[in-house]
Amino acid sequence: MKKLIISLAAALLSLPTMADEGMWLLPLLKGQRFQQMQELGLKLQHYDIYNPDSSSLKDAVVIFGGGCTGEIVSPDGLLLTNHHCGYGCIQRHSSLEHDYLTDGFWAMSREEELPNPGMTVTFIDKIDDVTDYVKGELAKDTDPNSMNFLSPKYLNELAKAKVGENFLQDNPGTEVEIKAFYGGNQYFMFTKKIYKDLRLVGAPPSSIGKFGADTDNWMWPRHTGDFSVFRVYADKNGNPAPYSKDNVPLRPKRWFKISLKGVQENDFAMMMGFPGRTNKYYTSWEVAERRDIDNTIRINIRDIRQKAMLEEMLKDPSVRIQYSSKYAGSTNAYKNSIGSNWAIKKRNFEQVKKEEQDKLIAWGEKNCDGSYKDALVTIEQIISDRKDLRTRSWLLDEAIIRGIEFVNVPTKTEKVIEALKGNDKEARKEQLRLLERAYHGFANSNYSAEVDKKIAKVLLKEYRNQVNPHVQPEYFQIIDKKFKGDIDRFVDYLFEKSIYGSDDNFDKFLAHPSVKALENDPMILFANSVRKEEAALKESLQSFNDGYALAHRTYVKGLLAMYKDQANFPDANFTLRLTYGQVKGYSPSDCNYFGHQTTLDGVMEKEDPTNWEFVVPKRLKELYNANDFGRYKLQNGKMPVAFSATTHSTGGNSGSPVLNDCGELIGINFDRNWEGVGGDIQYLPDYQRSIIVDIRYVLFIMDKYAGAGYLLKEMEIVE
Ligand code: ARG
Ligand code: ASP
Repeated sequence: MKKLIISLAAALLSLPTMADEGMWLLPLLKGQRFQQMQELGLKLQHYDIYNPDSSSLKDAVVIFGGGCTGEIVSPDGLLLTNHHCGYGCIQRHSSLEHDYLTDGFWAMSREEELPNPGMTVTFIDKIDDVTDYVKGELAKDTDPNSMNFLSPKYLNELAKAKVGENFLQDNPGTEVEIKAFYGGNQYFMFTKKIYKDLRLVGAPPSSIGKFGADTDNWMWPRHTGDFSVFRVYADKNGNPAPYSKDNVPLRPKRWFKISLKGVQENDFAMMMGFPGRTNKYYTSWEVAERRDIDNTIRINIRDIRQKAMLEEMLKDPSVRIQYSSKYAGSTNAYKNSIGSNWAIKKRNFEQVKKEEQDKLIAWGEKNCDGSYKDALVTIEQIISDRKDLRTRSWLLDEAIIRGIEFVNVPTKTEKVIEALKGNDKEARKEQLRLLERAYHGFANSNYSAEVDKKIAKVLLKEYRNQVNPHVQPEYFQIIDKKFKGDIDRFVDYLFEKSIYGSDDNFDKFLAHPSVKALENDPMILFANSVRKEEAALKESLQSFNDGYALAHRTYVKGLLAMYKDQANFPDANFTLRLTYGQVKGYSPSDCNYFGHQTTLDGVMEKEDPTNWEFVVPKRLKELYNANDFGRYKLQNGKMPVAFSATTHSTGGNSGSPVLNDCGELIGINFDRNWEGVGGDIQYLPDYQRSIIVDIRYVLFIMDKYAGAGYLLKEMEIVE
């Protein structure tokens, strides 16, 4: 018996997909995973979640903007997403008089809801398997090295041809898109409806919506109320339309019911949303490449950059405000890379992938098919051949392009120069006006030349230490020729001489504009030289990338064939997916266990009025001290804040609805723990956790904290 159990356990462990792992495509869910979901506690039928012929839960899930998920929670088009997803909108409506980032914002009537030009909300109306169609079209291509099989442009033309021009004309706001899955072994077409009138309804203050900020980012236990509220508007016929005051709230096909029942450890939980990118089908060589080049360079360079930035932020409160968003953006991917390398080492991903490759080679040979081995040999070779180029490209990108702000000064000066050379006074004025606008767009209120200068000095030193002088951007030669290698002097010189070096310099230029000043401007020359190197590297890497993509397709095809009796999910590609698992805490280290639910007690424990990241608003403390939690509290009387679950999520899943066994909304996903981010390559069942704001905290803040309880009246709340 014991033996049987051991061998059973071993068999389970060697399954390619572990329980809870997976970002499942809805049309494949029924065949692939539905039974396991029900065994884990799901009470719904597959057609409740996804039904190609009528409305289902998936119709309440949307793409929010360009990289987040959102969900519809009322028949009047009310939408929930994260605070960090709505951040840009909240920021754009903020000013010194109305600082919605600091104070929060609540529309107390529909008239007060704020429009957000440029924002979109995308519904997925239909998902069709179009593999045969795409492969049929691809077969007409005679070029064996054609990259059409992955080309978004080519695939979207196919999508348009498939549905026909008339269909698109008759359905305003509708777009079609074909995306490649499993490295180009399968194709799905998405029929999307894109709404453009989206209004801000409410947001908590950052001291709730961003509580814990960077210190707590990628961390559990977490105490952030990371949510914001919007409403989708449509024209009178319910069709997408640009903002108009005549638009009306959208009557959506579906909205989520909201559950106040809460969660217990091991409860079933599932999430739908738009995970952005994963690398489940990496080979061992790519794991090493990611670890030794991508992650390592990012960690090292950002460490240097952030230290310099933070020093300035701590010195000067106005710099702190200017750079807080840039700092947050920088540390976000930085901490992710640290977690990624931690997991690669901890679970020896390189070895795991190696074993999988060897297994496939043996399996192929047994079936007289050497193509998989050939593909793997090709990938190994490509990874080795592109090592130097990739290293240079990552260093250029992290240390200079993303690291130094002044590489983004306006460099398109041809028209200004032309106007300055000509005699047309009006044209000249107009061109200078445009340049002035571009300059102020660059040197905006969140830019500090002093900080940029300081960062440029440390990063250029690091870049020059790591990159062979022969392959640095050409303009860097003057660092040696003119400044004897002295980077500090070189950077000072750029700021001193460039028209973009300071407002003063720019004003002087405007007073006496000259062609020579533009043609010889050192910052423009610097930026152009960097861009030239960037383009050259991109081009050199392209042939490797193409060869890689072809071999990768074959490799994935092999794995799918070898594991054809198993359910295999495709890598994330920002398409609608479902992931399920259980509400669960985890053990980060020996003898340590984190529970699955945080409460307001933790907010009070973390409070630090001297640290902007952990300031607690007065009103929240009053509610806490009065135990005024209404119907939102736990059985033990505490106020829930967030919970963690084993769902397999990634970037892009922010804002995703988290649902219980009845498909009711129990939370909004917003993060993962840093020990779990390696799940982008290989799921770690004991470490990977999604971090989810408890829906009861969301409602509590709306109702009790903000006094916007009227919004709850349009929701369907299940007690
Ligand atoms: N780590 C989360 C994600 O990857 C949240 C990022 C926003 N929050 C922050 N403090 N930077 O998007
Ligand atoms: N915070 C991420 C997002 O914004 C989610 C994650 O990486 O887990 O999509």
